[in-house]
Amino acid sequence: MATNMMDAVQLHTYGALEVLVYEKAPRPEPQADEVLIRVHAAGVNPADWKIRQGYLQAKFPFPLPLILGYDVAGVVDAIGAAVTAYAPGDAVFAMLPLNQLGAYAEYVVAKAALVAPKPESLDFAAAAGIPSIALTPWQALFDLADLQPGQTLLIHGASGGVGSFAVQYAKWKGAIAIGTASTANLEAIKQLGVDQAIDYKTERFEEKVAKVDVVLDTIGGETRQRSWQILKPGGLLISTEGAAEPVVSPSSDIRGVPIFVEPTGNELTGNTQLQQIAQLIDSGHLKPLPVDVLPLQAAAKAHEALQAGHRRGKFVLQIA
Ligand SMILES: NC(=O)c1ccc[n+]([C@@H]2O[C@H](COP(=O)([O-])OP(=O)(O)OC[C@H]3O[C@@H](n4cnc5c(N)ncnc54)[C@H](OP(=O)(O)O)[C@@H]3O)[C@@H](O)[C@H]2O)c1
Repeated sequence: MATNMMDAVQLHTYGALEVLVYEKAPRPEPQADEVLIRVHAAGVNPADWKIRQGYLQAKFPFPLPLILGYDVAGVVDAIGAAVTAYAPGDAVFAMLPLNQLGAYAEYVVAKAALVAPKPESLDFAAAAGIPSIALTPWQALFDLADLQPGQTLLIHGASGGVGSFAVQYAKWKGAIAIGTASTANLEAIKQLGVDQAIDYKTERFEEKVAKVDVVLDTIGGETRQRSWQILKPGGLLISTEGAAEPVVSPSSDIRGVPIFVEPTGNELTGNTQLQQIAQLIDSGHLKPLPVDVLPLQAAAKAHEALQAGHRRGKFVLQIA
């Protein structure tokens, strides 16, 4: 029936940009513990094109057809029978679990426990660019590294989505933040508050820093390999690129772990990490990345740009 259908961008097969099809798809129904969100905006992430290409099938065996997208901001349209924390009309944002997805659409369902009220100071497009890139460094720096005031953190890719939030968390926590970025983005990471900016195009970071407590690696490859030597004994390297390449420390006195971001929360507390992030945004402690807004039909354009790499800012698909 037409009323049970919605506009969506989905794939019927993995592959190049052409597999992204803008078409009608069945509208999801909320289970007892879920909310149905009328999506206003969906964030686009580098993982989206990797999923589209089929690179993450082994870890997440998605059934096809698949609606992509896990960062979402919108308005609660309906609630499941057991939901008490939200009501229709509430403005919310969320990261959907990576084994669910579905944000490139007019409607999506999410467990109420994973949803948080949208930051009041942001519109829906800006809010949709936040959840996963803010949760990833939150979980890396606070849950895994237990970053303390006065500790030194080196962030590879400090101008990126994850890196930009990492810099700001470090400064909020009273830690020393060193960031690597290309020449073009050095000024941007200084504006974010890094104590030391290293141009990875012209400088070798291992000649500029030593004895850091924590490295946040959002690059992998030889950048990660060259990073072990700058950790102090007892230091920790956390990598977002653990799916591509296992994180193996070369020495017993330093540690390395991957981060795989999770939307966290429970029915009593809701998503407390996203709630705290929203409060830090509304109180002016955190600045989101600049956002480029595209219509849902232009999802392929965002994928193409992200796949090319080296661009600063978030793409967000405007849906309502
Ligand atoms: N495992 C997880 O849970 C998880 C969660 C979120 C993201 N991720 C992954 O983390 C990575 C970063 O995500 P993102 O959203 O932050 O991406 P992004 O916004 O595209 O940022 C990546 C940044 O890396 C910089 N860069 C590229 N090569 C570099 C190098 N050799 N040294 C230092 N910086 C370099 C780029 O800046 P320039 O233009 O200046 O080069 C760019 O700003 C992606 O691969 C993503 O898939 C994983």
